[in-house]
Amino acid sequence: MLLKAIHKRGLSRSLSIIVTTVLAIFFLLTVSRLRHGSLLPSFDGVGRPSSEQHEDPIRTLDRPELPPGQCSSEIDFLRRPQLALADKIVYSRRCIKTTNGSPSGKPVDRDAVANMSQPLVTSKTVVNLTSCSHPDLIPCETLSLPVPPAYPKMQYPHLLFGVASKYDRMNDSLPAFAHWLSSTGARLIGIIVDVDERGSNFNLTSLEAAYRREGILATFLPPKPAKRLNHQGSADSSNNNNNNNNNNNKPAPVEHHHFMLIRELVTVATPSTRWLGILDDDTFFPSLYPLDHELASHDHTKPHWLGALSDDFDSVKLFGFMAYGGAGVFLSTPLARQLEPLSERCIAEATINTGDGILRDCVYAHTRTKLTIVPGLHQHDLQRDASGFFESGVRPLSVHHWKSWYKEPLPSMAAVTRLCGDCFLQRFRFGGGGDVLLANGYSITQYPPGVLDSLDLGRIEGTWSHPEHEYDFSYGPLRKKLPPDQKKSYRLADSYYTTTKTASNTFHQIYLHRASDDDDTSEVKINLGIDEVIELVWEV
Ligand SMILES: *[C@@H]1O[C@H](CO)[C@@H](O)[C@H](O)[C@H]1NC(C)=O
Ligand SMILES: *[C@@H]1O[C@H](CO)[C@@H](O)[C@H](O)[C@H]1NC(C)=O
Ligand SMILES: *[C@@H]1O[C@H](CO)[C@@H](O)[C@H](O)[C@H]1NC(C)=O
Ligand SMILES: *[C@@H]1O[C@H](CO)[C@@H](O)[C@H](O)[C@H]1NC(C)=O
Repeated sequence: MLLKAIHKRGLSRSLSIIVTTVLAIFFLLTVSRLRHGSLLPSFDGVGRPSSEQHEDPIRTLDRPELPPGQCSSEIDFLRRPQLALADKIVYSRRCIKTTNGSPSGKPVDRDAVANMSQPLVTSKTVVNLTSCSHPDLIPCETLSLPVPPAYPKMQYPHLLFGVASKYDRMNDSLPAFAHWLSSTGARLIGIIVDVDERGSNFNLTSLEAAYRREGILATFLPPKPAKRLNHQGSADSSNNNNNNNNNNNKPAPVEHHHFMLIRELVTVATPSTRWLGILDDDTFFPSLYPLDHELASHDHTKPHWLGALSDDFDSVKLFGFMAYGGAGVFLSTPLARQLEPLSERCIAEATINTGDGILRDCVYAHTRTKLTIVPGLHQHDLQRDASGFFESGVRPLSVHHWKSWYKEPLPSMAAVTRLCGDCFLQRFRFGGGGDVLLANGYSITQYPPGVLDSLDLGRIEGTWSHPEHEYDFSYGPLRKKLPPDQKKSYRLADSYYTTTKTASNTFHQIYLHRASDDDDTSEVKINLGIDEVIELVWEV
């Protein structure tokens, strides 16, 4: 995408200062126009292209149907076209037993990189996925991993979430919402901004039914008529010198609905509602438990505005000091009740046309509340490769941009939270003839001898585009991105729970190193041209 290429991240350092300056100005204008929605449609409420139109088409491989029984269920899963594995793969697995403490009874230190004396991979099997043939019984040696206990099962009826998006995007986002919202007692209100689009047969009742089938208490609403909103906006505002709202015939942009959500949320809030969470449709919470724990440390009976800055200081300079929408924004009910009657007026008065910016202006202009920054919420203005973040041992409360600026299968990654809570992204180092690091739920990385010892694993590796000083305040001090020959990665491709009546239940993580990812100069490459899979089979 042109804009992203221009986004300073791709610029050659050797360009002359003049060219750089001209491009920088163009970039600023472009991004600010982008945020204002004049160049690209944007549906995440903050005016950014939160997700490119559609995901890459799934690469499908035609594998022949096999007679029942020919392919053991252990391997069959790998034949799924979604994984797009090559015909022949190198496969290995470990069966994992979790322990919640050391033998002496000391609780697990989640933030330490645990040193495991044995190797992670103990045997490898070549599997032909077309015929499903493999030479022998596939071993699954047991490995004990010290992890924190599972989160307590809780209900969260005091949390109320809101999102403004498009029908198809909400339909596509169901698995992600289900991951953290299913069976929690928390409610979701969605404004479906394009529901009345001509020629569509969008049906909010059936969308609600689809969410409810996944255990989500969702209510989807059509947007309030745009005309009324704009008309009242300009009527309510005595000093409206803003030119965003002077056209009564244009539909209200999604950013306005993102802000108008506050009214819908206040309307459905009950006396037990404590926090209103205003989200983008690609805001993702690994688990509601730690989020709720954090929210509980703030007084919901007082006006509060909680959120996160962009992690990119250039964005902060450009858009200001506010709770960036993608990270998730939380209003206590007293603050939301103060803002709700001002909805139209605040839209009309806003100096910026993004949902999070309108909210910022409204809070500053009409209340004495200031932003409280909540560590762990992430706007994630990171492009391309966010592995440095996910491999750093962080415990994110929220992540964002995982379907667009970078691509990672967050619901599959975070599925392990069900099993052992904070063990998501917990790190383990394996010895025994190879330096291997597991970042649980994200990656298994093999380093050439000596490399791992030379790394400061307390620092985030600057793997994304242009990891320079604008990230110092959020992620610094960074360490340098390793070249491909210093790091061979198996990334999580999928995960699933099995629930069988006969055998014990298991949780499966499929980590995948694609042969096509190999750099030709790679020294650590073992099997040229062969996809490699490491499966971790967790006892549930
Ligand atoms: C693991 O080993 C490294 C040195 O190899 C050491 O610095 C680190 O403290 C150890 N971690 C734990 C949790 O013992
Ligand atoms: C896998 O098995 C199929 C069917 O037996 C065979 O045609 C194919 O050549 C095998 N692939 C490889 C890479 O060995
Ligand atoms: C919603 O998504 C599912 C698949 O995830 C698809 O089968 C269904 O047709 C979609 N519904 C609509 C109305 O687009
Ligand atoms: C919407 O879906 C519901 C249930 O799925 C169905 O009963 C209703 O007739 C549908 N409405 C329209 C207008 O198609």
